[in-house]
Amino acid sequence: MQNETPVIRAEDLTYIYSQGTPYQKVALDHVNLSIETGAMVGVIGHTGSGKSTLIQHFNGLLRPTSGKIYIDGEDMWAQPSQIRRFRFKVGLVFQYPEYQLFEETVYKDIAFGPKNMGMSESEIDTAVRRSAQFVGLSEDQLDKSPFELSGGQKRRVAIAGVLAMNPEVLILDEPTAGLDPMGRDMILGQIREYHQQQGNTVLLVSHSMEDVAKYCPKALVVNDSKLFLYDTVEEVFSHAQELTGMGLAVPQVSSIFLRLRQLGYPVSERVFTVGQAQDELLRVLKEGKGDE
Ligand SMILES: Nc1ncnc2c1ncn2[C@@H]1O[C@H](COP(=O)(O)OP(=O)(O)O)[C@@H](O)[C@H]1O
Ligand SMILES: [Mg+2]
Repeated sequence: MQNETPVIRAEDLTYIYSQGTPYQKVALDHVNLSIETGAMVGVIGHTGSGKSTLIQHFNGLLRPTSGKIYIDGEDMWAQPSQIRRFRFKVGLVFQYPEYQLFEETVYKDIAFGPKNMGMSESEIDTAVRRSAQFVGLSEDQLDKSPFELSGGQKRRVAIAGVLAMNPEVLILDEPTAGLDPMGRDMILGQIREYHQQQGNTVLLVSHSMEDVAKYCPKALVVNDSKLFLYDTVEEVFSHAQELTGMGLAVPQVSSIFLRLRQLGYPVSERVFTVGQAQDELLRVLKEGKGDE
């Protein structure tokens, strides 16, 4: 593992919006980071911390004010005219992507990315149907106008459009924002399945610590334009106090279990839901009895 080239590496990445104007804003401040190929990472941080700015650098939508980004070891901006290649390699689903649908039919909207990549008609057709099915859209919805669909369905069209390009890295910026719990679980479940089936790297921006804990083995925390931590969810959540200070609440049960561990109880680190807490307490109580 140690010799493997990380899929994404940021080196002293700094980004300043409106530099040299009164509105100047340092949105990323000397970020250093390596993400290993095939990881599934939750990106968390308070609103305005710099999450969207960070991920937009990974597919070349933003260019660093200073510092470098490497994709598979390749300096992204070595030849700016080549940046398109990276946009196909790293697929980005924006926040509220449904506002960016614009074609006459769902089919055409999903086909937009693959077409741009220069896929053949038959490859496009396979990719469109496969990704539509994957996100739970039916065949007859493909001929509809995207504007006839519900909010949740539109969101799925937008996600299918990026999946159809089969990007090496899939990045989603708060893909569940504004959805009800059922729509949320469905989309996150599909993203997890995509990750498991393809083994591709996935970055999931979320403000829900519960969702990150449930779906992502690793978490990246951005705070005030800086990278605070990139580690396993267990390790990240063990910094409960600092996270709370940043306005990021660790799930309550996780705080309780962290405290129990500090007090010397042999409880698991992976307790993020009340259901898991119940199972874990029963297990520990049973084992405790066995010792007597
Ligand atoms: N286009 C922009 N022009 C100026 N400032 C911006 C722009 N986009 C974001 N910012 C500022 O940069 C900071 C980081 O924003 P953003 O990356 O969107 O954070 P997050 O996604 O974590 O909410 C915020 O202070 C935000 O107001
Ligand atoms: Mg954002």
